[in-house]
Amino acid sequence: MGLRNTPLEFGTLAKALHWLVAVGIFTLLYLGLQQAGMEKGPAKSEIRFIHGSIALTVLVLMTIRIVWRWMNDVPAYPAGAAAWQRLAAKAVHWGLYVVIFVQLTAGAMTVATGGKNLPFFGLFSIPLPVAENHDNHEFWEEIHEFTWKPIAALLTLHVLAALYNHFVARNDVLRRMTVGVK
Ligand code: HEM
Ligand code: HEM
Repeated sequence: MGLRNTPLEFGTLAKALHWLVAVGIFTLLYLGLQQAGMEKGPAKSEIRFIHGSIALTVLVLMTIRIVWRWMNDVPAYPAGAAAWQRLAAKAVHWGLYVVIFVQLTAGAMTVATGGKNLPFFGLFSIPLPVAENHDNHEFWEEIHEFTWKPIAALLTLHVLAALYNHFVARNDVLRRMTVGVK
């Protein structure tokens, strides 16, 4: 089991990044929706602060992940996969990358157009070169409040596909992103 991908399975780095991003996204969805139902106040601000800090971490991990993917073989689809299944897998994987980047952009712009810096766990905060503007703030906030839905929908398809591959088609697709192929 090496760091790099092979034609048969994902390497340790790709696996680590996949699962770190997965935990990050589930946490962001949970914290985002959690604070949405709360009254304004310090508890809500604290959740937003942690939410934004985790989101910046996810941004860094996703960027490394995409660069690393370019530098690597990507394991081939299982021999039994139909053309439509290969196309669907490709569409859902790239769709996930796209909607997650849109969500990261919208979140960062919501904060920046609200006149605040992006938080990072109290270690530092990042100012964006964007003017404070109420209308733009509302615009990005609406995008951010919408885009978690396509993320959740694609994730549902993604998880169902992983389970289908493992339990119905009985191929190595789930193993090659987890314990490895024998
Ligand atoms: C927020 C959570 C997740 C995100 C954003 C995500 C995203 C992705 C993406 C973009 C790929 C394509 C990898 C590439 O070729 O670059 C991938 C592969 C994969 N994911 Fe996820 N994933 C998530 C959660 C999960 C979960 C919960 C499972 C299992 C139940 C899972 C199982 C897999 C498997 C098995 C592959 C390999 C597919 C293949 O071999 O072609 N993922 N994931
Ligand atoms: C992929 C990354 C992200 C996901 C999945 C995500 C998810 C969510 C969700 C589900 C909500 C609740 C939306 C609602 O009220 O209906 C939310 C709210 C929020 N997020 Fe994110 N978020 C992400 C990235 C970011 C980033 C990068 C920032 C800023 C640094 C951010 C800042 C905020 C703020 C300030 C709110 C409260 C906005 C409001 O309720 O009007 N998010 N997020």
